[in-house]
Amino acid sequence: MVFVETIEIGIAITFYLVFYAVLALLFAICMGGLFYVLDDKKPTFILDSSLIGGNPGVSSRPQPLDGVVKYSVDNSTAYNTFAQEIQEFVDAYANETWFNSKKECTMEDNFGYPDTPCFFIKLNKVYGWKPQIYASDFPNDMSSDLVEYINSLQDIERQQIWISCWEEHSNMTKIEYPWGRGLSVRFYPYLNDQGYISPVLPIRLTPPTNTLSIIRCRAWAKNIIYNKSLKEPSGYVRILLQIDDNTSVNATEVP
Ligand SMILES: *[C@@H]1O[C@H](CO)[C@@H](O)[C@H](O)[C@H]1NC(C)=O
Ligand SMILES: *[C@@H]1O[C@H](CO)[C@@H](O)[C@H](O)[C@H]1NC(C)=O
Ligand SMILES: *[C@@H]1O[C@H](CO)[C@@H](O)[C@H](O)[C@H]1NC(C)=O
Ligand SMILES: *[C@@H]1O[C@H](CO)[C@@H](O)[C@H](O)[C@H]1NC(C)=O
Ligand SMILES: *[C@@H]1O[C@H](CO)[C@@H](O)[C@H](O)[C@H]1NC(C)=O
Ligand SMILES: *[C@@H]1O[C@H](CO)[C@@H](O)[C@H](O)[C@H]1NC(C)=O
Repeated sequence: MVFVETIEIGIAITFYLVFYAVLALLFAICMGGLFYVLDDKKPTFILDSSLIGGNPGVSSRPQPLDGVVKYSVDNSTAYNTFAQEIQEFVDAYANETWFNSKKECTMEDNFGYPDTPCFFIKLNKVYGWKPQIYASDFPNDMSSDLVEYINSLQDIERQQIWISCWEEHSNMTKIEYPWGRGLSVRFYPYLNDQGYISPVLPIRLTPPTNTLSIIRCRAWAKNIIYNKSLKEPSGYVRILLQIDDNTSVNATEVP
């Protein structure tokens, strides 16, 4: 009896030893596979297989938490907060020749604040994404002013992701593109190289005062999907701007 029990215990011990050995082996294979796949530079999931997808988002600076850039022309504390946010954003570009050659929407003109504020448009980084540009065959919904602009450029200057902005609901805000209307393709693809910075493009807005202006800026490339939906926005960014100036209206009209 005692002998039989010893054998049974022996079998049990052997069983568990083999069981755990197999588990450990499987675990080792999994981890080995994982570390093999995890390259410290290259993300595991790229382009369409990644969660953020191959469609780069469009964003702008300044980008206040509540989404509205609102200030009074006589409150320098308020508008300099936005100019300061841009300054911190563009600090990363301090050593870029193309950036330093710009004359408008720079620190020297306080980025246009308060009267003609600049907003910097950029695309979010997507590893490996390369724009398929529009150089001549323009889509039907591309605004005619942008088509005209592109047609005025030499072929060699058309290697760009185009940006067009328009005002929703009205046409009262003056929209200018002091640096041109494109982001150069020479910055793509983004491969997580050290020191990489995304191209940026400022637009300058001169809105009517004391009213909220909503500007929509769209980025154009064949592989930037545009969905005008506000719920699932894609391919554009909205800028909400209100500049208050109580000196231009009669005091009794100020709400
Ligand atoms: C100016 O703006 C700042 C920041 O938005 C605000 O805290 C301050 O109250 C404003 N000053 C006046 C006089 O409205
Ligand atoms: C720019 O270059 C200067 C020297 O030329 C260096 O001291 C500085 O750290 C650089 N700044 C950035 C943001 O790379
Ligand atoms: C603004 O102007 C464009 C043409 O310049 C026109 O297509 C559009 O309908 C106008 N929008 C409004 C709201 O007036
Ligand atoms: C745009 O987003 C809406 C949801 O808000 C969705 O129903 C529609 O299919 C999307 N359109 C495209 C072209 O993806
Ligand atoms: C305009 O508003 C500022 C505070 O933002 C106030 O100090 C100033 O007196 C106002 N001016 C007029 C003419 O109402
Ligand atoms: C507003 O002020 C101007 C002078 O600055 C005056 O001529 C005009 O009558 C005023 N309008 C109203 C509605 O008070």
